[in-house]
Amino acid sequence: MSLLAVNNLKVQFSTHDGVVTAVDDLTFSLSEGETLGIVGESGSGKSQMAFSLMGLLAKNGQVSGSAEFEGQNILNLPPSTLNKIRAEKIAMIFQDPMTCLNPYMKIGKQLMEVLILHKNMSKQEAKAESIRLLDAVKIPEAKKRFDMYPHEFSGGMRQRVMIAMALLCRPKLLIADEPTTALDVTVQAQIITLLQELKKEFNTAIIMITHDLGVVAGLCDKVMVMYAGRTMEYGSVQDVFYKPTHPYTKGLLDSIPDLESDQAELRTIPGNPPNLLSLPKGCPFQERCQHAVDLCRTEKPALTSFNNYQQRACHLKEEAVA
Ligand SMILES: Nc1ncnc2c1ncn2[C@@H]1O[C@H](COP(=O)(O)OP(=O)(O)OP(=O)(O)O)[C@@H](O)[C@H]1O
Ligand SMILES: [Mg+2]
Repeated sequence: MSLLAVNNLKVQFSTHDGVVTAVDDLTFSLSEGETLGIVGESGSGKSQMAFSLMGLLAKNGQVSGSAEFEGQNILNLPPSTLNKIRAEKIAMIFQDPMTCLNPYMKIGKQLMEVLILHKNMSKQEAKAESIRLLDAVKIPEAKKRFDMYPHEFSGGMRQRVMIAMALLCRPKLLIADEPTTALDVTVQAQIITLLQELKKEFNTAIIMITHDLGVVAGLCDKVMVMYAGRTMEYGSVQDVFYKPTHPYTKGLLDSIPDLESDQAELRTIPGNPPNLLSLPKGCPFQERCQHAVDLCRTEKPALTSFNNYQQRACHLKEEAVA
């Protein structure tokens, strides 16, 4: 059985100008210890997908479909049940660690409180375990740092503290929403290595939301490529990255800088994602797709499965995209 099985997940927001479908019909699954990367340009629905699983959508948002975590649908659960799952089984980390940390409380106290509240630990046990976790996320001199405030840490160190906090209760699933985007490249690489190690040590399943395809290649087993709230392509990293079958995936992969070539300009996909309030008929990517044919302008491509669990939404034959 999958740890998480998401079926036809949809997130809609009602606004003054109409209904925005931010997440449209996603289906994917994750086993214990597996890592799924979610990629796509800004506004493609990555964060709202994650928020909907965590019950964190804005008031004007509505979620439908199902998301079974250990066999239980976690969408639209009463807050008390959801809080328990969020505290003990599913954790989320964000781009800005200060969304999780209290600036006025010493780091150690914040960590201990989680364990005392959710794991019924004594103060002593909680302190020992918190220091162990700070060590695990490679905070130097964890014992000394235990009594410091968040502002006394660098950005990268604060990110580590947030990861420690997320892992305290040994969640089965960690959702990471661009956890390294705000950090410089060296620190980014350290955090990714850290996540790789933690994944092994704790067998945590991870959903990694990122703009960085290099991160997906280095960390993930599966990848979902999103555009305008929809799945464009989904499958193993091996298949999707080495044999992309969707022009959008190809476009994203072509825009990775190739350090070995002397190509001076970075290629990007020309144009911008469509306005979700006035999506074109047919495929949402048609206006930017160099392969688009008439059918792409009139009919929305269905998401089809092939090769076991791989999915794509494109009218073109796979060979035509390669
Ligand atoms: N409360 C809301 N009301 C209306 N629309 C919303 C609301 N929250 C988000 N959206 C819309 O949902 C869409 C998806 O947003 P989301 O934050 O998931 O994008 P993203 O893929 O995470 O982008 P980024 O890479 O910039 O973080 C956007 O078009 C956004 O404007
Ligand atoms: Mg986002």
